[in-house]
Amino acid sequence: MKIENLERVHTGLLNTPLEFMPALTKKMGKGNLYIKRDDLTGLAMGGNKTRKLDYIVKYALDNGYTALMTFGGTQTNHGRLTAAAAIRFGLKPIMVLKGKKPEKMSGNVLLDRLMGVDLYYCDMSAADKLPADQQKAAKDRFLKETADRIIAEYAKKGEKVLSVPIGGSTVLGACGYVQAIPEIMQQMKDQHIEAKHLVAGYGSTGTFAGLYAGARYYHAPFEVIGIPIEPEYNSIDECVDLINEVSKQFEMGFTVTRDDLHLEMGEGENFYGGVGYNAPDHITQRYIKMLAETEAIFTDPCYTGKVLHGFIDLIEKGKIAQDGGAIMLHTGGLPGLWTEEHLDSMNEIFWSDPEKDSVHELIMK
Ligand SMILES: Cc1ncc(COP(=O)(O)O)c(C=O)c1O
Repeated sequence: MKIENLERVHTGLLNTPLEFMPALTKKMGKGNLYIKRDDLTGLAMGGNKTRKLDYIVKYALDNGYTALMTFGGTQTNHGRLTAAAAIRFGLKPIMVLKGKKPEKMSGNVLLDRLMGVDLYYCDMSAADKLPADQQKAAKDRFLKETADRIIAEYAKKGEKVLSVPIGGSTVLGACGYVQAIPEIMQQMKDQHIEAKHLVAGYGSTGTFAGLYAGARYYHAPFEVIGIPIEPEYNSIDECVDLINEVSKQFEMGFTVTRDDLHLEMGEGENFYGGVGYNAPDHITQRYIKMLAETEAIFTDPCYTGKVLHGFIDLIEKGKIAQDGGAIMLHTGGLPGLWTEEHLDSMNEIFWSDPEKDSVHELIMK
């Protein structure tokens, strides 16, 4: 089947804007800089997962599922948007989360609770006592058994649960980002935009895989660059397999090897992925502030702040935007700004030392 014939629902609002960033362009003094606003996909505060969910929800509805269950860390954006899409299409939202139940709600967790999602926290700290090489397998096994048990319990209540893998990074999910490419190409044409690079996050990899496949299939005028959002980033070989599977299933006529993919990590202090998955760090936070100050566009501390770090650094190093413009894909994640740990950490640099900044205290006598 050709991908153009694959049916979808619309969980979010498309097309998202492709915006010029005049102040950042001036500040950097290289080529024209643009941002593709997939943070504005509308559904439940927006983000990249809606494009993936368009195909996943369609599959669920066509195959008689009555509930969507997915997985992630406590602050999963993918979980929030999967739950929201489920609700909008009359399906039951269920989330299986890695880690202990937090003491307090913050960020995405509040939104999950407001939506009435069934939340299952999985405290797997017992596995940390195992030898290092056995820990991951033990945790994966526990999650799999938990998911099977939950599906069986809901089945007794008459629910048919579709299990959506972490990040929605399946062939179907990636299709959402294949189809983002013609949208971007048309916008470039309509707005007379030239860009040689599209810079996007590389997490569970479905977004990057879809963009890469779409760029190849539709002969995009730009190269897609992936920025891993954590030091222990997802396997490149698995991403290659995903891209090849997309190409095979939709007769795109190409195969890739890992040498074809362009990832940029940075190095040392300048490692774009920061210090860990969703771990606060002051370098990422300063990039978040920089875009907010120049363009009044907010990025998040777990994903898009790190992509922004890579985007700016690649421009500074002359690797992109030298001989033509560059586009950064904003994939959302904004509820992450208000999670307890990120807020505490940002207080350290943006609030504790107000004399040096623009915060003033005036005392009436
Ligand atoms: C805000 C945000 N940006 C980027 C990503 C990464 O996308 P992917 O998992 O498809 O690589 C995620 C994944 O959850 C996300 O929530």
